[in-house]
Amino acid sequence: MQLSEHVTLAPYTTFGIGGPARWFGEAATESDILAGVAFAQERGLPLFVMGGGSNLLVSDAGFPGLVLRIGLKGIERHEEGIFAVAAGEDWDCFVSETVAGEYAGLECLAGIPGSVGGTPVQNVGAYGQEVSQTIVGVRALDLHSGAFVDLPASTCGFAYRRSIFNGAERGRYIVSRVMYKLRRYLEPLISYSDLKRYFQDWASLPTLTDVAVAVREIRRSKGMLLVDGDPDCASAGSFFKNPVVPDAVLARVAAHSQGPVPRYDAGPGLNKIPAAWLLEHAGFSKGYARARAGISSRHTLALINRGGASAAEVLALRDEIVDRVQSRYGIRLEPEPVFVG
Ligand code: EPU
Repeated sequence: MQLSEHVTLAPYTTFGIGGPARWFGEAATESDILAGVAFAQERGLPLFVMGGGSNLLVSDAGFPGLVLRIGLKGIERHEEGIFAVAAGEDWDCFVSETVAGEYAGLECLAGIPGSVGGTPVQNVGAYGQEVSQTIVGVRALDLHSGAFVDLPASTCGFAYRRSIFNGAERGRYIVSRVMYKLRRYLEPLISYSDLKRYFQDWASLPTLTDVAVAVREIRRSKGMLLVDGDPDCASAGSFFKNPVVPDAVLARVAAHSQGPVPRYDAGPGLNKIPAAWLLEHAGFSKGYARARAGISSRHTLALINRGGASAAEVLALRDEIVDRVQSRYGIRLEPEPVFVG
């Protein structure tokens, strides 16, 4: 594996923001991952493992250590609908392949930017599906033991946008392969209101392909599909998680609002409130701009790089939003992207 010095990271991220990595390498094999880790350890350098760059905000100063980009490729189809997919495969291409083969389970996750290896880390989810429903195992380098391990899904600690990989064991594992179990010829999942609306006038049952097409269209309409050269979607997807709050906090939000507060059940006495709704009701509308950062004109949760934005400008916008939502509703929004450097 070749390592380069002072590589600007902005082009490797969907935000298009970020300064240089002191060292940068792209791992094509598990041996390359081991070599990258050894290189960083021998020099006492911090290590950052990068996937598709779709959920990152890299600082303007860049990263002082080694950025190891995971480029492992390969999709193996095993018996009983098991797909073993290398971490560097493009997520949306993999989804397209499964849908074309009439395998159900990922059709609602079409159009999500990024790579396969990132999906278990933040338990990627959309339109009623989450990868935790189909992942059966994750292969990863365990930095504690220095060996690759095969982790069954039950040990991955999956929850809403959470896993051991970004939670309890953050920094311990480097994902090299993910195993999904999909089912053939199953009816597509149409549970989310946007999808139900899309298909309400259809006389026949939509196919998996129809659902994947619909999801991509809905994502495009919300600025959540990457379109080359369109700054309105130069983002890291949803910038904030949807907060989960107890009934008392929901009642407080309702007391400060005219009309009903949208909510989803999140367990006994708990409510998930759309962060986008909180932003809008705190006065941040679509198209809001602050210097070269801003909010997409199509979805309030997509903070965007309007052209040449610095990470500092995005962070200033983040702080303005977090502070105002906190003072208005007493809810502290948690960002979803990973901050690097
Ligand atoms: N809303 C607004 N303004 C907007 C958009 C939405 O007020 O501009 C309110 C509305 O009340 C709407 C509600 O927010 O009904 C929910 O909006 P939406 O259906 O667009 O979903 P979301 O909660 O904003 C979540 C995920 C997305 C995922 C969609 C679809 C999070 C943080 N985001 O968004 O995931 O694609 O549901 O399932 O959970 C991502 O994580 O990066 C991501 C894009």
